[in-house]
Amino acid sequence: MSNRFQRALFVCSLASLPAVIYGFSNGPVPGRTGAAADGGLDCAACHRTFAPANSDPRGSLRIEAGPYTPGVVQTIRVLLSHPEAQRWGFQITARLASDESKPAGKFTPLDGFRVVCGGGAPEGNCGANPEFLDHTRATTFPGQSGGAVWTLEWTPPATASGGVVFFAAGNAANNNGNNQGDHIYTTSTRIAERAPCNLTTLPAITAVRNGASFRDTGFALNTMASLGGTGFQEAGATRGVSALDIVGGRFPVEMNCAAVEIDGKRAPITYLDANQINVQIPTTLSLGDIAVRVILNPGTANEKRSRDFSIKLEPAAPALFRFLPASAIAAIFPANGTPAADPAQVPGSVKPKIGDVITLFATGLGVSEPVYQAAEITPLTATPRVRDQLTVEFNGVAMSAGDVLYAGLTPGSITGLWQINLRVPANATPGQNNPVVLRMGSLASQPGVTVAVGP
Ligand code: HEC
Repeated sequence: MSNRFQRALFVCSLASLPAVIYGFSNGPVPGRTGAAADGGLDCAACHRTFAPANSDPRGSLRIEAGPYTPGVVQTIRVLLSHPEAQRWGFQITARLASDESKPAGKFTPLDGFRVVCGGGAPEGNCGANPEFLDHTRATTFPGQSGGAVWTLEWTPPATASGGVVFFAAGNAANNNGNNQGDHIYTTSTRIAERAPCNLTTLPAITAVRNGASFRDTGFALNTMASLGGTGFQEAGATRGVSALDIVGGRFPVEMNCAAVEIDGKRAPITYLDANQINVQIPTTLSLGDIAVRVILNPGTANEKRSRDFSIKLEPAAPALFRFLPASAIAAIFPANGTPAADPAQVPGSVKPKIGDVITLFATGLGVSEPVYQAAEITPLTATPRVRDQLTVEFNGVAMSAGDVLYAGLTPGSITGLWQINLRVPANATPGQNNPVVLRMGSLASQPGVTVAVGP
């Protein structure tokens, strides 16, 4: 076998050298998702060691996508796993269920992805040709084991188009820099067009509570809050936010045909059922009495609005989350995530000792520096601290600045979740539940909540 022949086999096409350098681990050629309408080819055309695709049941490829609303951008996730793979790649395409040769909507080529086109159209500009969204080198995660998740943005067709089918292929690769020894998977998922909003109940708010203390006071910008009432959904429907609800890095302001308006602004929603909606109070400079209302079928002819419910906004609303139903403050050991509490109250927890570092979770600590907006997720690498003066009182004594290691937003979480990393101070009483109070000016967190300190 000549060298040249081996090489041709290796790239499995007569691709020119620049194409080899750019074209493969930096995102495959179009038309390799396994979709029958494209001839049924997938990555195993070149990554052949374990061909055909899906031959190793230890791995899997999955597409996560919910029903679409025409023209409304949504999140799609592609999840690939294999116990031995060390590098990851994928390609996905969206087609009309009524004619799988026709593209459905558009993918956004976010950082780390690229759009290649069928029909010979140039990269990034497919026109009426099918689109294929690929990984690029940056999103092959070389050296990562277990699996990979790609979070994509897709804009559905602008007009009602019926079902949409996604086809994807994934390469659970061995990171050897060539096309040998890699496991290929293919899958497809069909999504429906979302039914028009048509909730028939009339919503009524009976209570609004701080999301951590459950008191009916304690509201400030970006604070987590909980609405109680009736008719927020049809009976029995419950829904928490999932990864698919986070679009463009923001929590949704409409979920299951329900929205909450606070001081005239849409509030990000984190949970919803017939009798409860958990929200984040929008970033607002208002103080004093403001109106909260629930709106069903928002923006449609059959919109249903609750009567306004009044709450009082303050500059801050410090409150500590608890391990419900206990009076134990929600706290963990940051080193390993173990709950820091009395195991008699919170199963699986460990009591911290004097000198241990623990993390307490809170809401309502006002403005962070730098400022983040409601609905946003604090970046994993950011440490936005409390801007205004915060005093942490442990067992009745204000803690020294040296024992409060960090008071700021929680990286990777909604911007209403604050954390305080502190060293259990010397004045703590071992063997007892020690009260902790957060004070900002004249405002204080709820009384009666404690950290159990071990002997
Ligand atoms: C036309 C042949 C061909 C097709 C089709 C192809 N690849 Fe590849 N792929 C290659 C070659 C050649 C390499 C090695 C050179 C490079 O990394 O660019 C490679 C490398 C890779 C790597 C890095 C592998 C490693 O172990 O380091 C990934 C990931 C990858 N391809 C993903 C895919 C995916 C996903 C598909 C299908 C959607 C696909 N490829 C389809 C030829 C192909």
